[in-house]
Amino acid sequence: MLTRLASDTHEEVYRVEDRDSGLTGFIALHSTRLGPAAGGLRMRPYPDEAAALEDVLNLARGMSYKNAAAGLPLGGGKAVIMGDAARDKTPELLRAMGRAIDALGGRYWTAEDMGMSPADMAEIARETRYVAGRESGAHASGDPSPVTARGVLGAMRAGAARLWGGDDLAGRSVAVQGLGHVGWHLCRLLAEGGAELLVADMDAERVAAAVQAFGAREIPPAAIHAAQADVFAPCAIGGVLNHRTIPEIRAAMVCGAANNQLATPGDADRLHRRGILYLPDYVANGGGIINVAAEILCIADRGPWVEERLAAMRAMMERLLARAAQEGASPAPVADRMVEEVLFGDAR
Ligand code: NAI
Repeated sequence: MLTRLASDTHEEVYRVEDRDSGLTGFIALHSTRLGPAAGGLRMRPYPDEAAALEDVLNLARGMSYKNAAAGLPLGGGKAVIMGDAARDKTPELLRAMGRAIDALGGRYWTAEDMGMSPADMAEIARETRYVAGRESGAHASGDPSPVTARGVLGAMRAGAARLWGGDDLAGRSVAVQGLGHVGWHLCRLLAEGGAELLVADMDAERVAAAVQAFGAREIPPAAIHAAQADVFAPCAIGGVLNHRTIPEIRAAMVCGAANNQLATPGDADRLHRRGILYLPDYVANGGGIINVAAEILCIADRGPWVEERLAAMRAMMERLLARAAQEGASPAPVADRMVEEVLFGDAR
């Protein structure tokens, strides 16, 4: 069921097929230099196998960077299943993927991603123990979003210290795009810290709840990036920093949880040229993977361990912002370089 594919860029790449259940997918291990490759399992209706393969390769590489930036002893990997999660997902198909993951002997650990639920992870776990982000069982880490939100807040404080000479966010205004799992927790933490909130979501009920709970001001979704605020916090979808939105941003800093916020790498320079401090997303949102890592690494006393890692992640953000300022460069390529020093070291 596993066919190994040749790769110049990734350590191991597999095509996964199980005719009985209708499974076609891919598993990619980008790097195991720092530890077992970890990254979620995604299910999407890809147009063809080439598109699914391209996605899994990019995502696996991204996980290497994210895990290294968070200072974790984990490498980067990812798995994808081709298909419509609402229509094509069956217990048989999930279990077939579970057997494929198990055959890799722990070199790849999976978790929930787009198109997957905790119940699906439980199904996969019937075939393999290399599943994290579970809701029950020994070391289960559950919903990562509260920890992700705390990591984003720490990053935002590091950015505030650099911009305004102190990390207190009281009296600062933050425009939060997306009031989902992470966005909501972030709003709560910010409100507790005395920040003023401007919020947008496609779901009007969530917006109304945030207005009620945090005294937030509602902004239309199409205008949240351009809100008059100190910080813009993308916590919804990717690609929100692009040639159209960047000229309209009025915040001095962009710091949020969303993955792949930059539409293109050049958009980091676009922000830099406008004097907007962009905090690299994969460094700012590493709290989620820290939470999951405690499960993979079977950390017995997870509370203090997670705290220590969150503090280290903020310190990493502080170091990279200092280096970017020194070089007069955008923090995005500086983060990549710092992570590559850890990931590839003298192997390059
Ligand atoms: P979620 O699905 O719970 O929330 C997303 C929210 O954004 C929803 O309320 C949705 O209605 C809203 N939304 C969608 N499009 C929007 C738009 N154009 N304008 C305004 N609101 C919009 O997702 P979650 O878990 O909160 O994650 C948010 C982002 O953070 C995603 O990009 C995710 O990949 C990333 N992330 C999440 C982590 C976690 O621990 N949940 C960890 C690391 C990254």
